[in-house]
Amino acid sequence: MKIVMLGAPGAGKGTQADKIAEKYALPHISTGDIFRKNIKEGTELGKEAKSYMDAGKLVPDELTVRLLLDRVANDDCRNGYILDGFPRTIPQADALDAELTKLGEKIDYAINVDVPDENIIGRMSGRRACPKCGATYHIRHLAPKKEGICDSCGTELVIRDDDKPETVKNRLAVYHEQTQPLIEYFEKKGVLHTVDGTIDATDVFKAIESILN
Ligand code: AP5
Ligand code: MG
Repeated sequence: MKIVMLGAPGAGKGTQADKIAEKYALPHISTGDIFRKNIKEGTELGKEAKSYMDAGKLVPDELTVRLLLDRVANDDCRNGYILDGFPRTIPQADALDAELTKLGEKIDYAINVDVPDENIIGRMSGRRACPKCGATYHIRHLAPKKEGICDSCGTELVIRDDDKPETVKNRLAVYHEQTQPLIEYFEKKGVLHTVDGTIDATDVFKAIESILN
């Protein structure tokens, strides 16, 4: 089963992808997480990605596509995967489609987590992330058991560099311009499912489960 998560920054793609990954035993592949890991480790890829990410812009397609196609060629992706934050532009979607077509495969579900812009800024300002395992929390909606500490691995949680209100505004603008057209793209392929992302995260997941079952 191959799944693409669509939605604005902060819509809850990562939160839901984690739940899907656990229940259906699929790898959760977040291009944003891969970039952040590389930034933390100081790799060349990380250095290149950081300037774009800090400005709320997209990392160039060429670099992102290469990274993603390498990742999905790994053994753990044989039974499928969940893509979170990829594709984000039409050229990225076309590149993925071309590669899958070559393999006689396709995306089975594109799940669009729908949250209006006015909800996003509040979500971002309360988000806390685990720099080690990538788990995501919210200080009010999805608080960790112990304040500031990751439930899964015990690491101290951090605020993401791109969660400042100014950067979030840029990310939203980039989303509307470059990523939103993918909703129609996947609708035309007959695999689009939209869920209301404004309700409790557990209920969002129930809606997703009923699509996947
Ligand atoms: P990326 O890491 O993908 O960020 P994003 O798309 O902006 O999305 P977020 O991770 O911010 O939000 P999310 O939808 O995962 O929400 P979450 O579950 O955390 O990308 C970062 C950057 O990397 C990009 O700006 C770009 O520069 C670069 N990049 C990445 N991929 C790229 C690509 N393909 N091409 C080019 N550049 C790329 O939830 C948000 C908060 O809300 C959390 O605090 C959570 O706890 C809370 N929450 C979740 N669900 C609910 C709910 N139902 N109710 C209340 N609160 C909730
Ligand atoms: Mg995310």
